Order: sequence, then structure tokens, then C-alpha cells
Amino acid sequence: MLLTRPAIIRGICAFSKQTSSRSLHSTQIAMAPIKVGDSLPSADLFEDSPANKVNVCELTSGKKVVLFAVPGAFTPGCSKTHLPGYVQNADKLKSEGVAEIVCVSVNDPYVMAAWGAQHNTKGKIRMLADPSGNFIKKLELGTELPPLGGFRSKRFSMVINDSVVEELNVEPDGTGLSCSLADKIKVKK
Ligand code: BEZ
Repeated sequence: MLLTRPAIIRGICAFSKQTSSRSLHSTQIAMAPIKVGDSLPSADLFEDSPANKVNVCELTSGKKVVLFAVPGAFTPGCSKTHLPGYVQNADKLKSEGVAEIVCVSVNDPYVMAAWGAQHNTKGKIRMLADPSGNFIKKLELGTELPPLGGFRSKRFSMVINDSVVEELNVEPDGTGLSCSLADKIKVKK
């Protein structure tokens, strides 16, 4: 489905497809964390540089996407376990019908690009920056992590089907490495 600009500007992907009660105010502040069955909020992420915007609705419309979010690029858990797991499982996930695998962090786009280059993510995982935390705030999946400088994303993974959340795995303690790992993703047929 091709999204119209008004649908994107209204603050939620595919507004008419909303299947659950989560809603966004006109100020675009969500009332509860996103959950299975909700449409994604519209937000712009950045790939490689601040000039290269990637709108979440356009990214996820009409296809299956696995999105995982990390507390921070280059942190030990994210670099040794979380990101490498998705690199190793990328071909398997794609063979199961996943069109894109996306890694999001509240970092700047240059940091995300450098981190991806270190892990050979090209052609496997798109490394998208949420520099202001705008997307993560709309999902209500953020957390304060003073050792990393302040607001960051909780660690989570999602399977998204045509902009709607089909599966959601949020780490119970916010940053652990359990349910959000690549080998725990179950792609529905
Ligand atoms: C990590 O190693 O993944 C990590 C480090 C500090 C805060 C959160 C996560």
C-alpha cells in the first residue's frame, strides 16, 4: 500500500489500519508503550548522514520488517552479542520472508554507519539512527541510561508486517540480552 503524505503527517503509519486502542494525541505523544497489533508511529530515521532521511512508514509499508533497537552503538553487549546475532541470522530471516532487517539506536547517523562498517552489515542490516530519540519516544520504549549520556532505547526486537507490530520482544530489564536476540525471532508465515 502506498502511503499518502497526510497519513504520515497524522503521526501514525496507515492510519486507517489501526486495530487496537493505542492512539496518538495531536501533539503525537503516545499514551502507552506500543504493543502487538498497533500501527507504528510515523518518524524519520537517518541512514549514513543527516541528509539521508528514512521515514518509518515508507520503510515498513507493504512488507515484513524485523527491527531491533539497542541502547548504544559500540557498547559491549550490542557489539559482541546483539548485532552479530542479526548479522549471522540475516540470510535465514530473509529466507523466511523478511524484506528488511533494521537496527535502530539513539545515536547519530555517522556513529551508526561506522558501527555497521565494523560488523559488515552492508546488504544485510540497515543501520538507522534516531539521533533525537523521537521514534523511540513515540514507541514509549526509551529509558534513561546516564552511563551512556541520558535517553536511549531499551533493547527490543519487533516483527512488523505492513507497518503493524506483529511480534514484540522487549528486554524485561531494559538492556539484557535474552528475548530480543536474533535467534528468538519467530516469523509468522
Ligand atoms: C551494553 O553493553 O550493551 C550496555 C552497556 C551499558 C548500558 C547499556 C547497555
